[in-house]
Amino acid sequence: MKIYEIPKGASALDQLRRAERPDPTPGPSDVLVRIRAAALNYRDHAIITGKYRYGLDHDTIPCSDAAGEVVAIGANVTRFKPGDRVIPTFFQVWIDGAPPKNRGALGSPLDGTLAEFVSLHEDGWVAMPKNLSFEEAATLPCAGPTAWNALMTVGTRVKPGDTVLCLGTGGVSMFALQFARAAGARVIVTSSSDAKIERARGFGASAGVNYKTHPDWEKEVIALTGGRGVDCVIENGGMGTLARSFECLGYGAKVALIGVLSGPQGYANPHDLMFKSASLHGIGVGSRASLEQPIQAIEVNKIKPIIEKVFPFDQALDAFRLQASGNFMGKIVIAV
Ligand SMILES: NC(=O)c1ccc[n+]([C@@H]2O[C@H](COP(=O)([O-])OP(=O)(O)OC[C@H]3O[C@@H](n4cnc5c(N)ncnc54)[C@H](OP(=O)(O)O)[C@@H]3O)[C@@H](O)[C@H]2O)c1
Repeated sequence: MKIYEIPKGASALDQLRRAERPDPTPGPSDVLVRIRAAALNYRDHAIITGKYRYGLDHDTIPCSDAAGEVVAIGANVTRFKPGDRVIPTFFQVWIDGAPPKNRGALGSPLDGTLAEFVSLHEDGWVAMPKNLSFEEAATLPCAGPTAWNALMTVGTRVKPGDTVLCLGTGGVSMFALQFARAAGARVIVTSSSDAKIERARGFGASAGVNYKTHPDWEKEVIALTGGRGVDCVIENGGMGTLARSFECLGYGAKVALIGVLSGPQGYANPHDLMFKSASLHGIGVGSRASLEQPIQAIEVNKIKPIIEKVFPFDQALDAFRLQASGNFMGKIVIAV
């Protein structure tokens, strides 16, 4: 089968290479899927360029996200049959509840999804949303549960009338925008680009703040809430933005700490949360259950993931280059 492969020790995008491997054979409890589309996350770029927190200990197929069609099943498989349309779970060993220590993430340390065929234990697949194409469904496994857990699982569940602040307009932020709107909340986005803010308004954001032209963007956000502050922050920036996110909070509000986009440097004092009875929650993607819940929300609310562009398999490197440029919104997809 055709695949892409990151050589062990890679440190630059150009080291991503086309390769061939034998087609996988499913074991007794495995499901073999013909992949039709894969999607990119910030993490995938970090892994290829050697900037991820864990190095690769083998030549690795990149990406955690995909959608495809079941072509064969092992003798013990009960959850799927050939012809079913499925997506993988980001963590292969986490069904529900608290995370186990060794969860096995796709794309590192496990081989990922940028390949013609992927064979995984039947527990590591879920049925894809009925209203989505393969390209659309492929965007869900990582960013979907991350956004869902930030809004709905940790701390106080986002409810109608709440205000959600999404930092940036990437994959996690745009799912958070769509899920928050479906829950009846108002959404403010921050972005490096006025044009992206305008596009986000088209997807339901009520306002946006350009953090390049407004370095004190938290003041603009507070003003947009009439001084009340927001109820939930989708914190994709990390240490470089966290202190300003704390400033944006209203009473009883929460920050979902998700990303590292602003780098590892910065200072934020949790003491600031105390007088607002506010809370800070680390997010680690999520369990299979936290992928199945947004899938239901997507079907009921007829949500379509926001996709910047679909690339053919031969142009996968261009897809990663677009991601590195920052000139995109939502998700970037590769047809397989
Ligand atoms: N903890 C978890 O479970 C989890 C799960 C998924 C992702 N993540 C992390 O969450 C972050 C977002 O992931 P993603 O896949 O959604 O990324 P992405 O799709 O690559 O989004 C990147 C976008 O974020 C914005 N951005 C860049 N630098 C920023 C900064 N300093 N402050 C605010 N926004 C900034 C830019 O949008 P604008 O041009 O509009 O500003 C950029 O286009 C990454 O750090 C990723 O590693 C964590």
